[in-house]
Amino acid sequence: KHQILIDTDPGVDDAMALLFLRALPTVRIAAITTVFGNADIGTTTHNACYLAERFAIEAPVIAGAAQPLYVDRSAAPVHVHGRNGLGDADLRLEGRRAIDPGPAHERIVELIRARPHELTILAIGPLTNLALALRLDPGIASLVSQVVVMGGAFGWNGRRGNVSPVAEANMRHDPHAADEVLAASWPVTMVGLDVTSRCVFTTEEACRLAAQGGEAGQFLWDISRGYEAMYRTHDGVEGFCLHDVAAAAYVIAPEIFATSRGPIRVVTEGIAIGQTIQPAPGHSFPAGAWDHVPAQRACKDVDAPRLLGLYADTL
Ligand code: BDR
Ligand code: CA
Repeated sequence: KHQILIDTDPGVDDAMALLFLRALPTVRIAAITTVFGNADIGTTTHNACYLAERFAIEAPVIAGAAQPLYVDRSAAPVHVHGRNGLGDADLRLEGRRAIDPGPAHERIVELIRARPHELTILAIGPLTNLALALRLDPGIASLVSQVVVMGGAFGWNGRRGNVSPVAEANMRHDPHAADEVLAASWPVTMVGLDVTSRCVFTTEEACRLAAQGGEAGQFLWDISRGYEAMYRTHDGVEGFCLHDVAAAAYVIAPEIFATSRGPIRVVTEGIAIGQTIQPAPGHSFPAGAWDHVPAQRACKDVDAPRLLGLYADTL
């Protein structure tokens, strides 16, 4: 089984990724750590707890970072994920499970050290917790199975950003953390907008899932009404992007993606703040910013129909 630690800011598409992974027999969710992003940390942690409790996910929910490392926290994207982070659906639940107060980065270190070479870290929010974990114990870099990150873009598919012309939201929320995580000596795969913006789940498919996907299918329909409306208004599509689901799918079905390797860094200030950059292959540069930056993997292309089918069939 894939042993996965999910670092997340639920988040409409985060909820989709969590329920997708929960439904896969080849996956064991080892822990859910939370981070600010789609809403403040209190809200994203509450949402993670809600999802774990309502959908019987056994993993502990551990609270993480409330703020980026250095930049000011960006406003929560209420027009995308709603005021409560889950499309303003009613999220009352009796007897919620206890939240582990964390901090998440300490637990991440403990969990990796307890299961050397076994854990996949799936990061689908800002990368603050992972950067703090690496700072606390750089030795964890050689002890993970892999790190899969939803974030960034290189424009391979014409798309470079979703919160600025060049920045994707998770990178923009904490660009310093993202730069540290991508430049660390652990095996990262970046699942960016290059592929996730092609994974559009149509309204028709969402409707079918609501009818045939049981409680989870109906719940995902309920929380995604505003998310879908946002895509209709901003992108002119009848459906919505499965960003975080695509990163989750990479863990269990990497063969449906095409990847390339090279060093990746993140712009930490100025108008391009949050942009992911990569030197063109074969170029060398004077000593400086690219010294000792390890090659990481980035997804260039995806078999989107297969990914969307895998998601719908699994749920
Ligand atoms: C990413 O930002 C958030 O809005 C989503 O949950 C996803 O992780 C997409 O840019
Ligand atoms: Ca997310």
